[in-house]
Amino acid sequence: MTFPSHRPLLGYLGSINPQTGGRPVACCARVGDQPVGLAVAEVAAGEPVAELLSVFVAADVRGRGVARRLIETLERDLAATGVTRVHAVYMTGRPSIPALERVFHHRGFSDPARRTVVVRFTPEEAATTEWYRRARLPAGGEVFAWKDLTAAERSELQQSQAERPWIPPDLEPWRCDDRFDETSSVGLRKDGQVVGWVINHPIAQGMICFTTSFMRADLARRGGIFPLYVASLERLRGTGVTCTFVTAAHFESMVRFVLRRCAPYISFCGETRGVYKMLPAPAARA
Ligand SMILES: CC(C)(COP(=O)(O)OP(=O)(O)OC[C@H]1O[C@@H](n2cnc3c(N)ncnc32)[C@H](O)[C@@H]1OP(=O)(O)O)[C@@H](O)C(=O)NCCC(=O)NCCS
Repeated sequence: MTFPSHRPLLGYLGSINPQTGGRPVACCARVGDQPVGLAVAEVAAGEPVAELLSVFVAADVRGRGVARRLIETLERDLAATGVTRVHAVYMTGRPSIPALERVFHHRGFSDPARRTVVVRFTPEEAATTEWYRRARLPAGGEVFAWKDLTAAERSELQQSQAERPWIPPDLEPWRCDDRFDETSSVGLRKDGQVVGWVINHPIAQGMICFTTSFMRADLARRGGIFPLYVASLERLRGTGVTCTFVTAAHFESMVRFVLRRCAPYISFCGETRGVYKMLPAPAARA
């Protein structure tokens, strides 16, 4: 009745989750002796904030208000222990999402807000997009395997960034090139300098995540990063892997690119959404 990754939390009800320091809370619905629904949340360590992690209702009793009651009860239990805010993040693309959003609406949560756009695709699907066929390396550009980045190139990147920052901190390659996928992670040298990278990580059997991609600003205009994506994807063709790519909603131009120029060609395009609700403080309820 909950995701495998959340199951261990049920062993820490009434105590502390040693992994996070948070306090797991759950609420169960029964018909007679039969459990038919479960909502699981965790109260953050040292904060009056809880995250609703999952809600599940057995298929044969759906549509009868069970989830609504579960959330209502959970909210009451949380508020009684001083929690003032509950939030949830979920992924679209499953048949139950409209029902889930209806439950949040009924319980007075905020309207769902997009947090990230998530795509999953095969290298072969990517190869059918228009941008894939049009991608061209800049003059003097050479793609190399990221595992072949030299120590001198790495320290030059770090030094130039320290002297005159030109890479958004989140995209600095040394933050993300631990245990990267050696097959598909690539860089671009132009006129002897490293100016871009696409660094990927294996996240599950047969699944590669495109984690960090960057191209120097003067080369990034009009799809300057595409040839690096293509070089990376070409290295994955025929291997049977699925790729995934997650874009935060505030990268608006990337979101537009993914929705307009990738989504029509690929297996899955969804988004994570977030909702929240402020709970009444204990004094206000009294
Ligand atoms: C999402 C889920 C928990 C809802 O449980 P539930 O007990 O059926 O929910 P409720 O009966 O309290 O409310 C469902 C509401 O959605 C509405 N609804 C059901 N299907 C809908 C649909 N396809 N589109 C729009 N609304 C829908 C119902 O009519 C009801 O609204 P109403 O009270 O205004 O009539 C249940 O479908 C489920 O367990 N799904 C599988 C697990 C899952 O995906 N969980 C969410 C992520 S963790």
